[in-house]
Amino acid sequence: MRGALISHVNGPALRDRVLPKIDEFMQSHLHNWTDKILDFQKKSNESILLLILKLVASKEENIPSTKELEEAQHQVFLTFFAPAINLPGTTYNKGLKARRKLVKMLGNIIEERRASICSRNNDILDTLLENSEYSKNSVIQFTDEQIIDQIFGIALTGYATTCYVLMMAVKYLHDHPHVQDEVRKENLEIRKGKPENYTINWDDYKSMSFTRAVVMETLRMTSIPGFFRRTTEDFEIKGYIIPKGWRIFICTLETNKDLDIYPEPLKFNPWRWLKSNLESHEHFMLFGGGARLCPGKELGGLEISIFLHYLVTRYRWEEVGENLIVSFPKVEAPNGLYFRFCDL
Ligand code: HEM
Repeated sequence: MRGALISHVNGPALRDRVLPKIDEFMQSHLHNWTDKILDFQKKSNESILLLILKLVASKEENIPSTKELEEAQHQVFLTFFAPAINLPGTTYNKGLKARRKLVKMLGNIIEERRASICSRNNDILDTLLENSEYSKNSVIQFTDEQIIDQIFGIALTGYATTCYVLMMAVKYLHDHPHVQDEVRKENLEIRKGKPENYTINWDDYKSMSFTRAVVMETLRMTSIPGFFRRTTEDFEIKGYIIPKGWRIFICTLETNKDLDIYPEPLKFNPWRWLKSNLESHEHFMLFGGGARLCPGKELGGLEISIFLHYLVTRYRWEEVGENLIVSFPKVEAPNGLYFRFCDL
């Protein structure tokens, strides 16, 4: 999975194939919001889900209801924190049912692709099918079940993370108008001198250093709780021996608030990412680390940055009512997060 994903979402592929698709998607998605009150949580979940379907399987039409898809994804996500008790009504049981629903949908997408005359879409699904057991020249020979598992993994990981970061970035920008002004200044500068129906190119994206700093600071403030590892040998840490074979949880909620690395850790301060090279710090773990480092790291940052570009150059927004945000088991606004948008 890593190979297929990395070749599609990094380096030249990210620049030449993925960026134009994201740009086109965001332009049309952030259209017609003027004078509307929107549940932004719903909007960001929907945008990221549709975008992933577009990137993984070039799917833009005949998509089952996004509400149904989101509910199924959410249900599967909840099983990560639930005991594996498969009885009617348990979270685990509901998760298994939701997974079956998603697997069926993905099976249909594979069938459609195989039956399609114009079968080259140059997307992740193409790469996976080229390596399937039905493909004569393939070395890897994935079964359909494995292909579905892989798409499922990409969609779940890419979706569960990116949409809450996007939602929180917009909330932080709302709560910190001076940060919002700075992001707007940077992005209006990029737009300057371009024609009305412009697109963002790679150089534009690379010049969005403050926008990227906002993404990083949002991640630091609201990161996933952490990730697991299994020890492959005994090792000592501060006088304690962790035996071989133990499962350990690397709690990034803690490391992201480390006073020595991030002074005033509870303050939302994107400027800290510009001053020192924090992204190459050895304790930088916003995307995990080592052999399992998130393969969608660059893609996630790109999606959010392009979204923010069109948001701040088109709209201002104010929060409507008081919206509760919880952070466990995942960051979400249980009753929605409402913003009123108006033209810039
Ligand atoms: C801002 C967005 C994102 C954040 C914060 C994030 C964060 C993470 C983290 C912390 C891990 C665990 C890494 C580890 O165990 O060391 C991970 C794994 C993973 N992520 Fe992301 N991710 C993001 C976006 C994406 C996107 C867009 C995709 C793909 C479309 C993706 C695909 C994956 C996959 C497939 C894994 C499992 C890697 C493995 O176990 O080898 N992620 N991500």
